[in-house]
Amino acid sequence: MVKPDGVRANHTDAIKEQIQAASFAIISQKWVHLNESAAIAFYAEHSNRAFFPSLIDFMTSGPVLAMVLEKPNAVAEWRSLIGPTDSQEARLDAPDSIRARYGRDKQNNCVHGSDSQEAAAREISFFFDEYHQSEMKLDAKYDDE
Ligand code: PPS
Repeated sequence: MVKPDGVRANHTDAIKEQIQAASFAIISQKWVHLNESAAIAFYAEHSNRAFFPSLIDFMTSGPVLAMVLEKPNAVAEWRSLIGPTDSQEARLDAPDSIRARYGRDKQNNCVHGSDSQEAAAREISFFFDEYHQSEMKLDAKYDDE
């Protein structure tokens, strides 16, 4: 997912070029503006963290671009391409990573990646399964792609 900061700063095309240069296939993509209940559901595992309210505000602050990416060992390969959660740490440890190039800090880190096969299945269903979308009232935006 390209998060609201990445979309706002117009980094989406550059990120997609980096995705394709790393030999991922973009199988599906969808522009979505998460509402509060959808963002809370998506990040439910972090609901007890002090940063949760800030994370929800941020994730509902603008549209995101959700993508299904395909490549052998895709979960690990994508996490390697995006770099560490904290963009400041990424700039030190993985300077060519997406978060190093386009993120700012732990919250404004430009992109999200599923952290396991199970999470990938759940998150793909979250964004691309019609039933979940109507349940959680995701507001689709941007019909220019
Ligand atoms: S942690 O601290 O290891 O649990 O964090 P992590 O699992 O790497 O991050 C989970 C998601 O929470 C976001 N995050 C934050 N948001 C706001 N403020 C702070 N301090 C913060 N720390 C982490 C982080 O961007 C992760 O989002 P995703 O979309 O999963 O990358």
